[in-house]
Order: sequence, then C-alpha cells, then structure tokens
Amino acid sequence: MLRSRKRTTVAALVTLALLVTGAQASGIIEPAGQDYQDARAPVDRRVENLLRRMTLEEKVGQMTQIRLGKLRGNCEWNPGPLVEDCMKAVLEDAKVGSILSGGGDAPNPNTPRAWAEMTNAIQKYALDHSRLRIPLIYGADGVHGHSNVLSATMFPHQIGLGATWNPELQEQLGKSTGRAMRATGVFWNFAPVSDIARDTRWGRYYETYSEDPVLAGALAAANVRGQQSDPTDGTARLTATAKHFAGYSEPFNGHDRAPAQLPIRYLQDTVLPAFQPQFDAGVGTVMINSGAVNGVPAHASKYLLTTQLRDQMGFRGVAITDWEDIRFLVDRYHVAANYEEAIAMAVNAGVDMAMEPSDAAGFTAGLLAGVRSGAIPGKRIDQAVRRILKLKFDLGLFEKPFVDVAKADAIVNGADRALARQAAAESTVVLRNEGVLPLSTGVGKLVVTGDAADSAARQLGGWTVGWQGVPASSPMPPTVTVLQGIKAAVPSANVVNAATQADAVAQAGDADAVVVVLGEDPGAEGESDTEEPVLTAAQQGLVDAVRATGKPVVVVLLTGRPQVLGTVADAPALVAGWLPGSEGGGAIADVLFGAVNPSGKLPVSWPKTIGDQPFSYDQVRGANTSPSSAYDPAFAFGHGLSYTTFTTSAPTLKSAEVRRDDQVKVSVTVANTGSRDGTLVVPVYVHQPVSKVLTPQQRLVGFTRVALKAGEERAVEVTFDVRRLAVTAGDMDGAGKPEVARGAYEVVVGDGRARFTVR
Ligand code: NOJ
Repeated sequence: MLRSRKRTTVAALVTLALLVTGAQASGIIEPAGQDYQDARAPVDRRVENLLRRMTLEEKVGQMTQIRLGKLRGNCEWNPGPLVEDCMKAVLEDAKVGSILSGGGDAPNPNTPRAWAEMTNAIQKYALDHSRLRIPLIYGADGVHGHSNVLSATMFPHQIGLGATWNPELQEQLGKSTGRAMRATGVFWNFAPVSDIARDTRWGRYYETYSEDPVLAGALAAANVRGQQSDPTDGTARLTATAKHFAGYSEPFNGHDRAPAQLPIRYLQDTVLPAFQPQFDAGVGTVMINSGAVNGVPAHASKYLLTTQLRDQMGFRGVAITDWEDIRFLVDRYHVAANYEEAIAMAVNAGVDMAMEPSDAAGFTAGLLAGVRSGAIPGKRIDQAVRRILKLKFDLGLFEKPFVDVAKADAIVNGADRALARQAAAESTVVLRNEGVLPLSTGVGKLVVTGDAADSAARQLGGWTVGWQGVPASSPMPPTVTVLQGIKAAVPSANVVNAATQADAVAQAGDADAVVVVLGEDPGAEGESDTEEPVLTAAQQGLVDAVRATGKPVVVVLLTGRPQVLGTVADAPALVAGWLPGSEGGGAIADVLFGAVNPSGKLPVSWPKTIGDQPFSYDQVRGANTSPSSAYDPAFAFGHGLSYTTFTTSAPTLKSAEVRRDDQVKVSVTVANTGSRDGTLVVPVYVHQPVSKVLTPQQRLVGFTRVALKAGEERAVEVTFDVRRLAVTAGDMDGAGKPEVARGAYEVVVGDGRARFTVR
C-alpha cells in the first residue's frame, strides 16, 4: 500500500517536471529544480545535470585552452582586433572552453577598459554559440599584480616577497591582484609559483618565494587565500594556480626545462611539501611542470598527476598543462610517436585541460579519436570535465560571465600603490652595514649611479607588460625608480645621477656618499638562464672605483637572484632590493634614509661562488659527512640586518613529549633592545640528532614576525605540525612512506634549543 502510494507520488513529480521543463535537447528530462542553470541548486547536482546533456564534442572542447592570438588579427600572432571567423573556428567549431593571454598578449590599447571589453566580447561570442551556454574562463599570468596591464600596479616579484616572511601581506597582495584581474574579466590567474629556488643559474629563480618549502608554502597559500577571496564588487570569483607541479625548479644543469633527477625521498620530503599548503587552502587549479623528472615528462606521469597529486596530496581541482606541453611529448621528449598518442598519455596520466595553445581543431580531434579508439576511457573524460564545470560553477561564471567595463579603469589604474611600497620596503634586505646606513636626510650631495639607478625596466623585471619584461615598443608602466625615490626622500639635497664610472668618481669628490644601484637584464624562462650568476666585471669595477674615493658607498642590488658578488662582497653597505616593482624606488629610499627600519630576511642562501650551485641551507649534512660539504654562504638563509637590536630567549615547549600528529607550540620571548621601533622575523627550526635516513642539520618548521617598539619585550608563540618532520623511510630506493620517526628532536630558535621526544 505504502509502496504504491510512493510510486504515484514519483510519477506525479515526473509529470510535473515534464510540464515545467519540457524535453531537453539531449532528450533527458530533468525534474524541476535540478536544472544546471538554477543557481540555487547544489554545485555537484548542477555539474551532473550539465554533464549528462553534453555531447562528447562539447566535453573535449571544455578540456581545451587556446591563446588569444587565435581569436584576432590573422588568427595567429597578429595583435589586431577580434575577428568573427577566428572566433568561430575556436569557440563555435572546436567548442573551446578557455582562452588565455600568455605574457604580453594584451588588447590594443592595453588599458583595463579594453581588457574588459575584449574578454566580455569573447565571452558573449562563446555563450551565444554554445548550445548549452557554458561560459568561458579567461586566464592570464598576474604574477606580480595584474602584470600584463600597462597601467596596473606592479608588486615586487615573488623572490622579494619571500624576504618579507609575511603571509598577511601576501594575502593582501593576492586580494589586490585578484580584484584587478576580475575587473578586466580574467578569472583565472596562473600564479603563485610554489617551486623552490635552489639554483641561481635558473632563469625563473625570481618567480619563486624561497628555497625552503615551509616558507614558500606558507606565502603561496596566503596569496591564494587573498586571490580567491569573495569579491565585494559584484563579479564572479577568481581561481589561482599552484605551479609548476612538481620539480620544475630543479633542472639538473640549471637550464629551464632541462630534465630533473629527483630521488623520490627528496621529491616527497622537500619538493611536494611546498605545494601542500596551497592545496589545503583550496587552490582551484594546478599547472604541470614542463620538465621531465627521473626520465618521465611530468605531463606523462600518472604517478605525479594522480598518485601524488590526487591520492596523496588531496588536490581536487583542475590540472592544466603548461604551454604546448602535450605536443612536446612528441616533439621534445619523444615519448609519444604522434599527437594523438601524446594526448592519450597526458589525459590518462591526469591532465584535465590542455593549454594547447594554438591548434584547437587538432587537439579536440586527437582527444575524440583517443576516446573512440578506446585509448582514453570515457569516464576519464567525464572526470576531467566534471572538474572543469565544477570550477566554473564554483566561481559563479554561469551567473556572472561579464564584467562592468565602466569600472575597470578605476579599479586597476594605480591601485594599491601604498601596498606596493610597503611590500617593496618589507622585501628589502640589508645584508651588511658598517655604520653607513641609514643615510642622513640632511645629506648635502649624493651621487647615485649604476645600471639600475634610474631604470624602470630593470626594476620591474620579466613578466611586466611583456613576457621578457617591458617591450622596447611599449610605454613604461608608471614607476618610481631608485633615483626618483632618493630625490623625493631628500628634496633639499644635491642628488647627482652619474651615468658613467668616470663621472661617478669625479662627482664623488665633494659628495657625502655614493649609492650604486646594480641590476640585471629583464627576462623570463630559458631566456633568463645564465651560466654566470655573478655581478659583471663592469659592475664590480664601478663599485671598486667609487670605493677607492674613500667616500661612504652603499650598494643596492636590484636582481632577481642572489648574484655572486666578487669584489663587491665586502662593500661596507650592501642592500638587496630584488625586483621591487612600481614603488620600488620609494621603498628603497625609505630603507636607505631610515623612514623604514628594514625587516627583510633572506628567503634563500646567498652563494659565495658559482660552484655553490645548487644551494640551500638544508643541504643534508649528517654528523659524519665531509667538512668540505659544510654550508658556507656569503649570507645565510634568514640573514638580514635592522637599525635596532633584538634579543630572543631560548624556546620553551608546553610538553616535552608529542605525538606524530600533534601541533607543537613553541614559546619565545623577544625584545627590542635598541632605540628604534623595528620588526623581527623569528624562524623556528628543528634538529634531529639521530636519524636512520640523513636529515638536514635543521629544518624550518614555522616562523612569525613581531613588531616591537624600542625597548618592548613580548612573548610570542609559533605552532608547527609534527608532520613537517616526516621523512621517507626505507633504503636508497625511497620505497617507504614519509613518516615521522619516533625519538629525540630539538627545537632551535636563535642560539637556544629545547628538546622534545616524538612518541
Ligand atoms: C609558460 C610558463 O611556464 C607558465 O608559467 C605560464 O603560466 C604559461 N606559459 C602561460 O603564460
């Protein structure tokens, strides 16, 4: 009885649904309230509902990302206006679901409004020519602010931000970048980078936060939280990207995209942990390493893209290839005989979307062929498309596919310049100061010289307007150079810009001090690799010459990597400003004249010689390893001077016994013992006196930043997860699981130690 009543009710509901929704194009009838266009329905239901209606052609289109150039001009590289025929081939015929602007792919004129108009127009075309009105997602590299846009505020590059040790600041920078990108209709940012920097020869060193996975991971996760935070300006949300998964920064010979040889133990214990915090923070997408690891291209590795990424690390979002990397499985790596085979290899390994980026018809045809031949299971396609649709629903693109073009300029132009200046100031690391800094604001004559003293292009670095830095044909983004910053800081001083060494020496004669600002050519990726990560002979010669005048000399380094210093190593005042962005000049001047008390600490080890590479503070040094392998940097990881003095007490722990899944609270008392307010970074390390497998002398497990007034003392706490101490167990083959060994450990803070035991 009951049973038959229930059946009647279900039948009545189906009839009602038929009346309400009618027959759908796919022939599948959905009960009312379950339509994928219903914003109130749960996302998973919307995804399943839409997926069921899609043809295979529509599904493979969603798995494809194509570059902007294919939609405009001559449908190739010509940067002309959008062209209907070009758009038809990509968006209607191949049903492509995502478009990207690679570095430098901008509308003309390169204004926020023009970006918004362009992305809206592409979105409108896509929606109007999509049977199911599935919105596009537009992606770009906003790697230091919305850095393709001429009028955007350029923040310091990641390597400088690493020196801030300030996750809250990264969150604000992420928010700002996200706001700017969303205002222009870009809802996918290919940032931040979670690769760890361990080789200064590598051209992308400056795009990383640190050599240390805990510091890099914490900063990247904070940046993701900021980028992906809920908009308050009525747009859809934006997704960040964890890239480049994984091992990309460790090419064995220092050249970008050269293969890496990474023991599984090192991969699991050092490389992958830098990504985990981003996954835990819910980053929506991951971009795959273009390189090969242990003889297998990352794009073809099921171990990396499924076993590690999904099963071990719990990532749930969309995995996208890097630029053209499926094709490179044929052309560069020769692991596949043809494109179709390569597509099957990559998709079966775990690729959800291909940044193809040029051949929409070729990629979709290859993917279709793979499914039809049985080389790619249909359920693998559904899994990938499910993730892509979920991303688009989660971001709100179905409800808010467009942006308000009238607001774009006001939101982006010159936004958050104070934040950019703060970030650059906190990035600045005073490496050495023999009584030279801060310079007096009452200075009479100051000579400012060096190749980066008045060069916005050098200060901004790569990925700024153009891929390799600001192109010669482009106007310069609004930037305060160091020369301009100094002039503004000491308006009554006679600040002389000496363009040549001879002029600098001559002008130094009656000057109070000389500031030498040295940089490197802007560049990106392989073009920025170098076999000589050293200050040039001319740069060293300039510093030698002005030092010979006997005047106080300050050397400011605006470089994307810690260059070997040569004769500059013992300069009496040495400041690392990295690639500090639009407001870098003002920020450097703030530090030089003491308006800001420097707090930056090295996020990397500063090498003494090129032969140090690859280099990091946690190079394994067991008690019995050779003394010649000792860590001997010019300046150590974590080094950085202040204009005040601090003390740090020995650490104390609540309990000397912890379990393997505990959070440990470390307490220390810090004091500002000098006469100026200042900020202290407190890194917390762990040392493991005896371990079955070699472990570093010390591993960073956590850190905090404390602002202290002159004379102030404060108790602070740093919490770390014991799982950070996990090491892959077993023999040389690294076949064991990462696990925390039971036994004795020590927390190390400054010169103090506290013992604890893991039970
Ligand atoms: C190649 C780079 O490796 C990657 O970092 C970037 O996001 C893409 N190109 C898109 O520009």
